[in-house]
Amino acid sequence: MRGGIINLALAVAALTGSTVSALDPVTVKGNAFFVGDERFYIRGVDYQPGGQSNLADPLANPENCKRDIPLFKELGLNAVRIYTVDNSANHDECMKELDDAGIYLLLDVNTPTISINRADPAATYNEKYLQHVFATIDIFSKYDNTLAFFSANEVVNDAKTTSSATYVKAVTRDMRKYIKARKLRAIPVGYSAADVAENRLEMAHYMNCGNDADARSDFFAINDYSWCGSSSFTTSDWEAKVKNYTDYSIPIFLSEYGCNAPSPRQFGEVSTLYSDKMSPVFSGGLVYEYSQEPNNYGLVEISKDRKSVEKLKDFDTLKKQLDDASNPSGDGKYQTDLKISDCPPKSKNWEASDDLPAFPKAAEKYMQNGAGKPLGDQDLMAGGSGGSGGSGSGSTTGSGSSPTPTGSSGNSAASAGYSFSGVMMACVVGASTIAGAMMAL
Ligand SMILES: *[C@@H]1O[C@H](CO)[C@@H](O)[C@H](O)[C@H]1NC(C)=O
Repeated sequence: MRGGIINLALAVAALTGSTVSALDPVTVKGNAFFVGDERFYIRGVDYQPGGQSNLADPLANPENCKRDIPLFKELGLNAVRIYTVDNSANHDECMKELDDAGIYLLLDVNTPTISINRADPAATYNEKYLQHVFATIDIFSKYDNTLAFFSANEVVNDAKTTSSATYVKAVTRDMRKYIKARKLRAIPVGYSAADVAENRLEMAHYMNCGNDADARSDFFAINDYSWCGSSSFTTSDWEAKVKNYTDYSIPIFLSEYGCNAPSPRQFGEVSTLYSDKMSPVFSGGLVYEYSQEPNNYGLVEISKDRKSVEKLKDFDTLKKQLDDASNPSGDGKYQTDLKISDCPPKSKNWEASDDLPAFPKAAEKYMQNGAGKPLGDQDLMAGGSGGSGGSGSGSTTGSGSSPTPTGSSGNSAASAGYSFSGVMMACVVGASTIAGAMMAL
């Protein structure tokens, strides 16, 4: 149907030498995503081949993209989430291949060593950090199929780390301001939250409240493992979540889902996720995760030499469920003109401040002149083997994600306990003890 437009675009590109993108950008309207006039539901997977202990930039390796993108297509995906990239690498070829395959990218802008450290957020919120974030935005904003940036992932991971949310919100503000100041495409920016029972609503409302419009997110995302085995809309948390977020004014989706106990998975939640039970409030989600890693959430097994992949049982099950789950008709009853959230009052489970830290003076130059040369992440570029050797950032934010710490909600995915491990340390620790363990290192 869009053939005419595409042909014209091709002709223009041939004349100007620019690259053609097949996909139109995703935009936000009310509490939903749209492509043009059509409601857009995220049908995605989380993509971090190599897992967290052998972290690499999957978009910097065209061989990997050629290996994996056909399988994304086979699953019928329209999006992948990537937890960390090397912003000094070239991503043109992989981004083009994703685009050709009809696939958008949701990108975390942090790396394990360049991110807000929940144990000492003030020290990690600085000019050097922001240069990295802004340079990553520069690089990826030029692709029409960049759907969203995650300002952070699971920085708040229990009832005691909530004061770090102040910094997550500051970074979100800075990213949104940078995009405006540099006149880049208005790529949505938001946070990917752990589903912490003690403060899940506070977290969501906090990111969508206050008089400073720049500091309010474009969307909110939850890592949710509450639907396990033959659970249902009512017995999982999903019905309660739809109720709780009914009036939430910005798009919301699941940035990770797919509880793996019992395994193999049934993925019965897929048909509910794309049904009109969810669609007035939720806009789809991403299954955790594409490749099989030690925590056993994989859809495929990547061979040792990394040249081939073998589909696992979960791949076929997910494919069938996605094939069978068509989107709700019409606009899925999305909502507009909802009010922004009220800022949550402070409590013993919520200590984030409504006074955000000031933007670092030393970083003002980036707003005016751009971020300059992307410097990458030495650890990533070393193929994940090198230690950061005294860079001192010692991040604990979990840019490489994992099954979510769910506080006291007590679901079984959380008890898998395979938690964040950065490049420097491949340790397996209980979710709630991450910060402590990393401090000890
Ligand atoms: C729903 O909201 C209540 C507070 O009104 C909260 O206690 C509960 O954890 C929320 N449930 C979910 C699944 O979000």
